[in-house]
Amino acid sequence: MIRVVFVCLGNICRSPMAEAVFQHLVDSADLTDRFSVTSRGTGNWHVGEAAHPGTQRVLARHGIAYQGHAEHLTAQDVRDPQTYVVVMDDDNEHEVRRRFGDLPRLHKLLAFAQHTSERAVPDPYYTGEFERVYRLVEDGCRGLLAAIREEGKI
Ligand code: 4NP
Repeated sequence: MIRVVFVCLGNICRSPMAEAVFQHLVDSADLTDRFSVTSRGTGNWHVGEAAHPGTQRVLARHGIAYQGHAEHLTAQDVRDPQTYVVVMDDDNEHEVRRRFGDLPRLHKLLAFAQHTSERAVPDPYYTGEFERVYRLVEDGCRGLLAAIREEGKI
């Protein structure tokens, strides 16, 4: 089983969007049984909440379902060194490193993106730009799945 956990600050905007988009790509490629895909927040303020209405709207517009609720990132989530821990920005990366040290598969999502020079997914909680964030997230998720394929895992 290939484990992927997407991480942002609140786990209500960006990382649930990435989780839903990546799961959709995995399902569309008939790889559902090969992956375990989740998302978490480095902060715990929103634990138990559904995704932000902006994230729900943009996912629905693109025909993607999402029913998850916010959860806080814990040591349990990253204990397997094979887990892909995929963060949205530098703050997320620093916080994950501070709490859990060097993880061999810690990456920024947009390191995999092919169609943008942006390297951080901006936080739509503050900008309201959910559609722009969707395009970045989709670009990164496609690249991540391609990278996992190139590693020969699937
Ligand atoms: P996310 O966005 O990290 O993409 O889920 C945020 C959600 C909530 C807060 C910050 C960012 N907040 O400060 O409550």
